[in-house]
Amino acid sequence: MSFDRKTILKHRRILKVFDEDMEKFPEGFQTDQQKGVPNPPLEKPYSKDGKIIDLVSIDDITLNKNYNLIDLLKKRKSHRSFTEDPLSLDELSYLLWATQGVLELTKHHGAGTRRVVPSGGMRHPYETYLIINRVEGLVPGIYRYLPIEHKLLFFKDKSEINKNKLDKLVGQKFILKGAVIFLWATTPYRMEWRYSITSSKVIAIEAGHICQNLYLACESIDIGTCAIAAYNQQVADELLELDGEDEFVVYLSPVGKITQ
Ligand SMILES: Cc1cc2nc3c(=O)[nH]c(=O)nc-3n(C[C@H](O)[C@H](O)[C@H](O)COP(=O)(O)O)c2cc1C
Repeated sequence: MSFDRKTILKHRRILKVFDEDMEKFPEGFQTDQQKGVPNPPLEKPYSKDGKIIDLVSIDDITLNKNYNLIDLLKKRKSHRSFTEDPLSLDELSYLLWATQGVLELTKHHGAGTRRVVPSGGMRHPYETYLIINRVEGLVPGIYRYLPIEHKLLFFKDKSEINKNKLDKLVGQKFILKGAVIFLWATTPYRMEWRYSITSSKVIAIEAGHICQNLYLACESIDIGTCAIAAYNQQVADELLELDGEDEFVVYLSPVGKITQ
């Protein structure tokens, strides 16, 4: 038994912009931005009473970053075996900045952020969540990166995470052995506000930019990572307490020290 061609073609549509077979924008259509609906937050709101942890500023990080880009590109590969060593806060700060760091807050196009990765219309429709197993000075648990502040928001202690649920997140066991697991969840409306139903393709593309930066940043400090698209969607969203519709996980990547 296999899928019929019609079903296969239907699922390929996300890879295209509109073509003549697809639904068209109705007469007089306006995006929410065109209608004057306020710009949604550039970063998911959070309670100011939450536990906020300072990260190391990119200008103060003292890591051995002696590689040039050609070296890094030659070295880049997926790693599926990590040592038990923890990451330092410098290393984690560097990896977070390298993947989603904000370079500039701008009023261009109705306010957005310019970051280390490109994003259609500067919308940047991802939040970065971390399952932290081993980082010096941090309690193991779930955290969220606050890219505008370059800080971490503590979400949940590891003891509050259901172990059985965590084990169901992924089939490949090496993933949970990472010192930190990066999970990128999208808030699609941040993109849809400007681009409506053409946003999904762009959102999917953008996860790749973020993860490629993680690969290269990891290689530059002798840490390993491996992009992961095979995970349990429902478990991932439940772990992060996302509603699975207006915010959901798209991609993840464990990182950890590797034996040289
Ligand atoms: C979108 C995407 C999804 C991936 N998903 C997985 C995965 O679920 N499990 C895994 O072990 N590797 C995964 N990988 C890693 C690839 O298997 C890996 O990139 C490929 O084998 C080539 O190896 P290299 O990265 O060392 O060049 C994924 C890579 C990409 C780009």
